[in-house]
Parts: sequence; C-alpha cells; structure tokens
Amino acid sequence: MTAPHHRLEQRKVRFDFSATPLHWVPDEPEVSHVMNTLHILLPAGEFWFCRVYNKAVPLITDPLLLDDVRGFIKQEAQHARAHDSALEPYLYRHGIDPSKFLRGVRWLFDKVLCDHPLGDNALSRRLQRWWLVQRVGLIAAVEHFTCVLGDWVITTDKLDHANPVMLDLMRWHGAEEVEHRCVAHDLHVHLGGSIVMRWFYMVVATLALTYLFHAGSRLMMRQDPAIKRVRGFLPLWRELGRRGVLPRMGAIGRAVGRYFLPGYHPRTESDTSLALAYLASSPAAQRAAEEARTGI
Ligand SMILES: [Fe+2]
Ligand SMILES: [Fe+2]
Repeated sequence: MTAPHHRLEQRKVRFDFSATPLHWVPDEPEVSHVMNTLHILLPAGEFWFCRVYNKAVPLITDPLLLDDVRGFIKQEAQHARAHDSALEPYLYRHGIDPSKFLRGVRWLFDKVLCDHPLGDNALSRRLQRWWLVQRVGLIAAVEHFTCVLGDWVITTDKLDHANPVMLDLMRWHGAEEVEHRCVAHDLHVHLGGSIVMRWFYMVVATLALTYLFHAGSRLMMRQDPAIKRVRGFLPLWRELGRRGVLPRMGAIGRAVGRYFLPGYHPRTESDTSLALAYLASSPAAQRAAEEARTGI
C-alpha cells in the first residue's frame, strides 16, 4: 500500500505528432525505433491490463487499494490511447507499417491471455480466480519494468534534445508509471500471490518483453531506409545503453535482481515526487489540467 495515500488521477493528454520526425531522437534511428515499440505494443497490452483489473475489482476488500486500482485502470487506459494516437499521424505517415506486429500482439492479449484461452467450459470457469491471479502476477512483473524504465526516462538528460512532443509522451507515461508503481504489486499480494509466483512471472516477463521489443523494433528498423543493417537486439541495446541513450543493461539486470529479494516493494524503486515534478511541467499534462479545469 502506498503510504501516505496518494490519489491517482487520469490526465486526459493529447499529442500532435504531425511535425514529429521519424527519428525523433535526432541521429538515433535505432533508439527511436526501440522506443517506438511502445506505440505498437502498449495499446493492446495496456487495455488488457484494464480488462484483467476490472475483473479483479470485485475481489478487493481494502478501500484504499480499490481506489488505487481504479486510478491505475484509468491511467493505463489513457496510456494505451496516447500511444495508439501515434500510429496514423506518426508511424504510418513515415511509411512504417506495423500491422503484422499489431496482429500478433492482439492475438496474444485477446486470445492467449483472455479469460478463457481454451474455451468457455466448466473447468475454465472453475479456474477463473486462479487464472486471474496468474495474470495479475504477470502484470506486477511488467509494472516493475515500466517503473524502472519510467524512472530512467524522466531522469536522464540524454534525451533532452529529442522531439519535444514525443519526448513529452514518453516522459508523461514514464512519470505515471512511477506514480502508480506500487499498485500492481499490492494487488498481487492482496489476492494471495506468493513470492514464488513473483519470481516465476518475472522470468516470464523478462523473456516476453525482450522478445516483443526485439520483434517490434526489428520490424520497424527493416522498413527504415536510413538503417542499412539491422543489428542483433541485445548487442544493439548494450551499445545504446553504454552511450546512455537507452537504460544500461546492467541497471536493468540489477533491477530484475531486486525483484527476487524477499523484502522487495516497488515504493523504494523510485520517488513519487520525481514523477509529480515532471507531470507539473509536462506540456500535455498542463493542457489536460487546464481543459479539465475550464471544462473545455
Ligand atoms: Fe502505462
Ligand atoms: Fe503501469
């Protein structure tokens, strides 16, 4: 549980990508594509988070956690919408067609990870609570990554020269990931998730995210004439991490290691005040706050 309780709010941000160059991190096509994977992975992934969490809501007996989960759902839905809004005016406009990857992730989240992946039958209905807790465990592991990456994107100065609109999307999202970093872990524990499950789903999440970022960024790099040779994903990340334009692999590895500690809790992974400081200065969040205040 976050203490003192910090109420999560949905910020109805909007972004105009009509002038955003394909290489929104200047002279860094590979960095741009690795981060662009978020636009093609997260709309399906984060709406799946929302569906799973809506199933969990009736099982929550702690009113503060219930408030956190409701705020989390609203924030994740807005993240999915914001990344989805980059597809047409940004990726397709620049000639990048990610439809094959989009079909794959939709199959993953809508079929494999749905309520009844093997069909709606008596056994599947009996296993519903168990299956829900498994998926909540997987989301908790993914949220550890989103917090660590979010902390990096709001604190690094290596992206300060990037396209301000795309950078604001990444940093607004990263800041909200830091802001709600405790919710998924707290929900998993509240529903009876064990430490062994936590370890298991961290292994699953690490492998799955590595594969998805590899496949998504590779698909887009292959369509970019500026990239003559698509390099292997892990050596590429290592090199970009060394230069500071992506998080260092060692830092990610250490973060994964912390998740296996018996006393792990996401509250010590970052600092809510860092997130709130960025959100107070984010152009998109400021516009959203102004629109909410004036009712426009
Ligand atoms: Fe998110
Ligand atoms: Fe999140």
